[in-house]
Amino acid sequence: MEYIVINGQNPLKGSISISGAKNAAVAILPAAIASGGVCVIDNLPQIEDVCNLVAAMESMGAKCKFENPDTLVVDTSKITGHTLDDKLAKNTRASYYFMGALLGRFKYADVPLPGGCDLGSRPIDYHLKGFAALGATCIQEHGVVKLRAEKLRGANIYLDCPSVGATINIMIAAVFAEGTTTIENAAKEPHIVDTANFLNKIGAKIGGAGTGTIRIVGVPALGGGEYTVIPDPIETGTYMIAAAITGGDVTVENIIPKHMDSLTAKLREMGCTISEGGDWIRVQGASALRPCEVKTAYYPGFPTDLQPQMATLLCRAQGTSTITENIFEHRYRYIGELKRLGAQLKVEGRMAVTKGFCEFTGARVIASDLRAGAALVIAGLCAKGQTVIGGVSHLDRGYERFEEKFRSLGADITRIQRDS
Ligand code: UD1
Repeated sequence: MEYIVINGQNPLKGSISISGAKNAAVAILPAAIASGGVCVIDNLPQIEDVCNLVAAMESMGAKCKFENPDTLVVDTSKITGHTLDDKLAKNTRASYYFMGALLGRFKYADVPLPGGCDLGSRPIDYHLKGFAALGATCIQEHGVVKLRAEKLRGANIYLDCPSVGATINIMIAAVFAEGTTTIENAAKEPHIVDTANFLNKIGAKIGGAGTGTIRIVGVPALGGGEYTVIPDPIETGTYMIAAAITGGDVTVENIIPKHMDSLTAKLREMGCTISEGGDWIRVQGASALRPCEVKTAYYPGFPTDLQPQMATLLCRAQGTSTITENIFEHRYRYIGELKRLGAQLKVEGRMAVTKGFCEFTGARVIASDLRAGAALVIAGLCAKGQTVIGGVSHLDRGYERFEEKFRSLGADITRIQRDS
């Protein structure tokens, strides 16, 4: 068993380079299955989710070779299988993007229901309704989604809510649909734009990504090409919040500051000093943090993937703060573990309330999912004494070399192996 051990209360100082965006990379890799050519994908984060998706692609006959740790050359010209193995599908949430990619290119896909973080019920009904609107039959049997079509036809598809996964999945399949597809009430997250840019680079005709209406003009086939994944806004935000909670002074580099506007605004409201340039943001902590209200929302709103980290920071503010989680019903599961470190947070329905200024003290805790793990690391960094965090595999799924990166900023953080 692996554990992360943190001896807290070192203010983080220095600069850190942010890796490629997890949620963009995990969409672009399955989208490459649709390509049929050779794609060179650069700035991939070195995380477990990427390794799992590469293994899934190889299992279907893709030839994958890392030119260097963050550059993958993938040849999908000779895909031999259109069926994804159950274990490979359950390793990651993003395995659902193989549905859109295989259906689009081969009109045939057998993909087990995906895994990923347990944040409550995470249905994929919008994905399936979208595929059906494009002309596919969708049957779910023994936990496997079976998609078939003679051919796909463009359609007007309205999403009941701007689901990230449904927007990307339908967009990938619709690349091959005859005529024009319109996705209304589409998600606008940066990784939607990144996936559309990748698909356009290899021959797709997608317009409007990043707005609520995406238009896709179908093409018969895609080619290959080179593409660089955008920097990770959630990794960026995690380091920004870690800087704030330790009263540190950290510059996050190789980022897109615009993607961070919702967090930057909240950190300023709390009293942190923030400066930014073309591809960096500097966060200087405040001697006393002010409380505030945070409500998660679809982009450009405050991201649900930064909610646990932000709630941890709000526990240190001088006064009462509220957090409202509007995207996932069970995104407060980390709070029980955070309380072991001293957090005082009360959950009522979608809202969590903290009266603020709690002293975190080190304890043994377990990460229940990826961002829950990030919140515990952040709490451990400002806690008095030693914090030992289990469930490290969750963190490895989404953060590249995080102990090394935190250590480079002055944190006392190590990974150990022990039996229990
Ligand atoms: C993606 C991200 C995840 C992030 C989330 C919200 C990936 C791999 N994961 O997850 O990190 O937290 O967006 O930004 O990119 N919904 C339905 N039916 C559907 C699809 C979604 O009811 O068919 C609901 C969900 O239950 C949820 C909401 O819509 O309440 C948003 O989900 P969605 O944006 O699809 O999230 P994911 O794609 O699962």
